[in-house]
Amino acid sequence: MTTTRTQVAIVGAGPAGLLLSVLLQREGIDSVVIETRTRDEIEATVRAGVLEQNTVDLLKEAGLGDRLVREGAVHHGIHLRFDRRTRRIDLSALTGGRSITLYAQHEVIKDLVAARVRSGQPIAFGVRDVHLRDLETEAPTVRYRAAEGNEATIACDFVAGCDGYHGVSRTSIPARSRVEHSRAYPFGWFGILVEAPLASEELIYARHDRGFALVSTRSPSLQRLYFQCEPGDSVEAWPDARVWDELHTRLETDDGWTFREGRITQKNIVAMRSFVCETMRHGRLFLAGDAAHIVPPTGAKGLNLAVADVRLLSAAIAAHYATGDDAGLDRYAAEALARVWRCEHFSWWMTSMLHRFPGEDSFHRHLQLSQLDYLTRSKAAATALAENYVGLPWDWTNDNSRGGLQ
Ligand code: FAD
Ligand code: DHB
Repeated sequence: MTTTRTQVAIVGAGPAGLLLSVLLQREGIDSVVIETRTRDEIEATVRAGVLEQNTVDLLKEAGLGDRLVREGAVHHGIHLRFDRRTRRIDLSALTGGRSITLYAQHEVIKDLVAARVRSGQPIAFGVRDVHLRDLETEAPTVRYRAAEGNEATIACDFVAGCDGYHGVSRTSIPARSRVEHSRAYPFGWFGILVEAPLASEELIYARHDRGFALVSTRSPSLQRLYFQCEPGDSVEAWPDARVWDELHTRLETDDGWTFREGRITQKNIVAMRSFVCETMRHGRLFLAGDAAHIVPPTGAKGLNLAVADVRLLSAAIAAHYATGDDAGLDRYAAEALARVWRCEHFSWWMTSMLHRFPGEDSFHRHLQLSQLDYLTRSKAAATALAENYVGLPWDWTNDNSRGGLQ
């Protein structure tokens, strides 16, 4: 058994855990990161692609902006497609010049892992049997079995539970001390990566009577497309020809818009869920990211929420060590949850507006179409979408902030 002493034990090397480690290190705070998967696995898992303005600004401030600025694509608008026509939402014009950046989550992960490794601070991949102990004391511990097979213990001041929805951190909070709010959706997303030229300069969110479709991108030669599928669907049920048929049907417009097919290099199915754990703190354990909350992907919020959480948490931990002021730690759960619930609503609303629900009738269909039409005609409605989509400012919950971007 080896024992390592550190200030913060970080469980999980996703965007939340890795970024937290980098932000803490910049404040001179030591941490140990443990991760159940291998470095190769975390650097190869294809997930999110949309970074909010806030996220981009924070990554740049943290010294992680080089490749992001070079290789990321800044988008100033998105398209809503319904009733065989397309309308643009001018994100930048509606939000005082803010934008989003398309840069794949696994590229963010590669940049973060590289920064962590450069720092010389410990990061252990391939660990197993992780247990959090003594969370209600000032000396919590994290026990695990290292990839090499030996038992290891981290003795620390704080534990950051950044281990995603299926991790052990959330369930280490006794059931009596947490309330879980959850909603399942009667569909999933089928995602493909395609070697093809850009189908569109900006993302297209499409509502069709056969279901939702989304055109996104990873680079000028690699495209990311999604379409709504059955919750229990399998990748095998979707040979390439069927995928293309469905995408052409759902994306077709009256003005003849089309896209080039290409070699599909990856197919995957994502389940859809909304979930919030209240609270995000138990004693010396602080949850961040998907460990505490899940949004359906339609609003592109999951990764950005993880970043917002660790920005708050790193500042609160830094204040604890710098001045002994624990007000930030005491406020953490409430402050993080205010943004979480805003994003939960936005993601649920986007999902409800754009997907086909089993058994939906013509009344429901007309409500969806009317809402989409309203968004494209009313500046007020479009602004509400735009300010949520690019990300509300960090201070939007402060009493003296006016809340929005204008
Ligand atoms: P995770 O990324 O889940 O990382 C948790 C890590 O902890 C994992 O590496 C896991 O292996 C590790 N772990 C688990 N258990 C343990 C344990 N016991 N001990 C140690 N480590 C453990 N979000 C957006 O913002 N924009 C998008 O466009 C977007 N699109 C998405 C598209 C798809 C297809 C999917 C699936 C998600 C998308 N998301 C998007 C959501 C986003 O990917 C997640 O919200 C984000 O990864 C959350 O980061 P995290 O660090 O909290 O959790
Ligand atoms: C992507 C994912 C999303 O969830 C979304 O809303 C937009 C784009 C993407 O992976 O590119």
